[in-house]
Amino acid sequence: MLPFISVADVSALIRHRGLGTVVRELSYYIKADFLRWNQFNKCERTANHATTGVIELMPIDDGEYFSFKYVNGHPPNTAHGMLTVAAFGVLSQMSTGYPLLLSELTLTTALRTAATSALAAQVQARADSVTMALIGNGAQSEFQAIAFRDMMAIRKLRLYDIDVAATQKLVANLSTFGIDITICKSVAEACKGADIVTTVTADKALATIITPEMVEPGTHINAVGGDCPGKTEIHIDVVKAARVMVEFEPQTRAEGEIQQLPQNSPVVHFSDVLADITKGRVSEGEITLFDSVGFAIEDFSSLRYLRDVIPNPAQMLDLIPEPANAKDLYSLCAIKYQENRV
Ligand SMILES: NC(=O)c1ccc[n+]([C@@H]2O[C@H](COP(=O)([O-])OP(=O)(O)OC[C@H]3O[C@@H](n4cnc5c(N)ncnc54)[C@H](O)[C@@H]3O)[C@@H](O)[C@H]2O)c1
Repeated sequence: MLPFISVADVSALIRHRGLGTVVRELSYYIKADFLRWNQFNKCERTANHATTGVIELMPIDDGEYFSFKYVNGHPPNTAHGMLTVAAFGVLSQMSTGYPLLLSELTLTTALRTAATSALAAQVQARADSVTMALIGNGAQSEFQAIAFRDMMAIRKLRLYDIDVAATQKLVANLSTFGIDITICKSVAEACKGADIVTTVTADKALATIITPEMVEPGTHINAVGGDCPGKTEIHIDVVKAARVMVEFEPQTRAEGEIQQLPQNSPVVHFSDVLADITKGRVSEGEITLFDSVGFAIEDFSSLRYLRDVIPNPAQMLDLIPEPANAKDLYSLCAIKYQENRV
C-alpha cells in the first residue's frame, strides 16, 4: 500500500507548525539539495500547451530517489472557480522503480516557491531590505509575504493587483502577521521605496509589468509569474540591466524573463551562489533579478520534506498490485477454479 499525503494533511501540518516555520524548514531541504547540484540527473520539464495554459511534467533523480510533479498553469481558471496552479507528485526508489509516496503538491508548490524565493533573496537582496512590493495578490501571494517576513525580515508590504478583491483578500489573510501594509493604485506606486519587488501575476502574455523607471538602484526583483514560453512580467531593459540568477539555465532560457535576451546573455546560477562560488550581488546599487521559473529539484526536496514530517499519513492507496507470487500478477484477477466450473 502506498502512503498518500493529502491536501488535508498538508493543511494540518501548516496549521500545526505555522506557515513561516514550514517554509523555513522546507528551505533547508531545498538549500541542501541545491548544494549537491552535481548529484542530480536534471532535465527540462515537458510542457503541453493549450490556448488557455500549460500542463507540465517535472522529473529529476539523485541516483537514489526519483520524483516527478504534474503541474498546470491556467490563468483563466480563477474566473471559473478553479486554481491557476494545481499539482501532485510522486517520490520513488531508483533501485526498484517503486513509488514510495504520492502527495498533493498544490499547497506544497506555493510553499516551495516562496521558500525558494526567500532563499534567493537571502543571497541577492540587500541585507537591510525591509519593504517589499507584491504585485499579483492571488493564490501564491500569502506564501510569498510570510516567507519574506520570516526569512528576510520584510516588515512593510506595498500591494497591487488589477483585481481589487484579490488585494482585499490578501490584506485580510495577513491581518494577524504584524506586517505594515499599503494598498497601491498602480504598479509604479507599489514599487516606490521598495527594496524588493516580487511579481507573482498570472497572464499568458509577454507582459511588461515592471518597466525601467519603476526600479530604484539596489532593488532586488523576485520574478515568479513569468515561467513559460510567451509568459513574462519584466521589461527587457530591466532584465538587461540586472544581475540575473537562474535555477536550471536550459529551462530558464526557454521559460524565464531571459527568454527575451540572446541565449548567451550573462546569468549566475542559484546553486553556485548558494555554494558561495559566485556572488548573487556585487554592489549595493545594482539591480538583481531572481528569474524564478520553478525547477524539479524544489519539488524533490519538498517530497523528501513531506515524507520526513508526515511519516504515517492517514491514507494508504491500493495503487501497486501486491500478488503473493510476483510472477503471478494474474492471481489478482483469476476466478477461483471451482467458481469457473459452475
Ligand atoms: N516560478 C515558480 O516556481 C512558480 C510557482 C507557482 C506559480 N507560479 C506562477 O505565479 C503566478 C501566480 O500564480 P497564482 O497561483 O498566485 O495565480 P492566481 O491566478 O491565483 O493569481 C494571480 C494574480 O495576478 C493578478 N494579475 C494578473 N495580471 C496582473 C497585472 N498585470 N498586474 C497586477 N496583477 C495582475 C490577478 O488578478 C491575480 O489576482 C502564475 O503565473 C504562476 O504560473 C510560478
